[in-house]
Amino acid sequence: MNKNANQNANQKTNSKKKIVLAYSGGLDTSVLVRILTVDYGYDVIACHADVGEARDKEKIQARAKQAGAVACEIVDAKDEFVREYCFPALRANALYEGIYPLSAALSRPLIAKHLVAAAKKHGATAVAHGATGKGNDQVRFDLAVKGLAPELAIVAPQREKNITRDEAIEYAEKHGIAIESTVKKPFSIDENLWGRSIEGGVLEDPSVEPPDEAFAWTKKPEECSNAPIYLKIGFENGLPVSVDDEKLSPVDLVQRVGAIAGNAGVGRIDLMENRVVGIKSRENYECPAAVALIAAHKDLERFTTLGAAQKVKDMLDVKFADVVYEGLWFSPLRAAIDAFNVEHDKTVTGEVTLKLLKGGLRVVGRASPFGVYNHAMSTYDRTDKFDHKAAEGFIALAGLQLAEFTRVNRLNEAISQTREK
Ligand code: ARG
Repeated sequence: MNKNANQNANQKTNSKKKIVLAYSGGLDTSVLVRILTVDYGYDVIACHADVGEARDKEKIQARAKQAGAVACEIVDAKDEFVREYCFPALRANALYEGIYPLSAALSRPLIAKHLVAAAKKHGATAVAHGATGKGNDQVRFDLAVKGLAPELAIVAPQREKNITRDEAIEYAEKHGIAIESTVKKPFSIDENLWGRSIEGGVLEDPSVEPPDEAFAWTKKPEECSNAPIYLKIGFENGLPVSVDDEKLSPVDLVQRVGAIAGNAGVGRIDLMENRVVGIKSRENYECPAAVALIAAHKDLERFTTLGAAQKVKDMLDVKFADVVYEGLWFSPLRAAIDAFNVEHDKTVTGEVTLKLLKGGLRVVGRASPFGVYNHAMSTYDRTDKFDHKAAEGFIALAGLQLAEFTRVNRLNEAISQTREK
């Protein structure tokens, strides 16, 4: 929209307050368009940031208008999502509780950023989202908005009203909002380029194995080929740039790795997860690209960086994942850890070979001009150049205090004597 058109739009509707709603195009957020208009008295601007869920843009636009939105902003955010959110997470080997690559958690701050941008563009005073009061997403949306534009009000009707699916359908019928299907979906799905989460239905029983229908991106491991698949990932400064020697853009690379790993059954995750709001929940994911890329990246770090720095980074990696999970993407803490990672990963350039077989994944080779590995130091054959005498001196100094302590106390002897009695 140009400046004049923008002003006209503002004038036409300046009697009513404006709000920007995170809009998926589904039933729930369509109902929210109307609720925010009728119950809350806002002019609603629907905002959809596409992070790779492959929905029909025109349909989303039409549904938003049909539900009563005064405007609809649709942003293709796939490239931004991978470069600015997934890749920093990859550099941090980010796995919440050691397992979950944070796919849903990474998309929320990006969506919030676009809500804030749309609010500025349209002169809105508030933003809204459809997250419930039981989940992590409300925390992530709200904290991201606070981190970017604390002056904006945040409205979360689903958290306030706890609208059930049946109520949403009833409301839609009453208000003439188009519904695509009233068939109850077996699972609640959230998906983007970094992964897919599957919740609800039979999965709410932690003892039940996830049924085949839960998965869409990964082949059932039992049904995968018996021949292993080798995948060579090239990295530059800690970020992936090629697959099997072919240079690819970030989005294409993630999609390529995801397709190959998913076809080998790699990336299924079943986690008893601790939510920010205290609930322990059973979560299922399929994140073939993230799982493969993190394994490769972590290995190349081990090969090309200092052991002492790696130990610090291991701790920061855990912290980074917690910070993202807890919704503090737009915080100086996240930015500071990321700055450390950028510096740390300056030598993480090279290639890692993964072997994928029936749901399993192993790193089986790595090569880099920056490999700190020195064959002459580690070999046991005749080319050995390691100074064995230096080890003797090292141990003499490392054991100095321990030997002295024992001489004075004979503590271990005393302990074993007490035990014998
Ligand atoms: N438990 C995951 C997380 O907190 C998945 C959330 C998925 N969100 C959703 N609205 N279904 O990151």
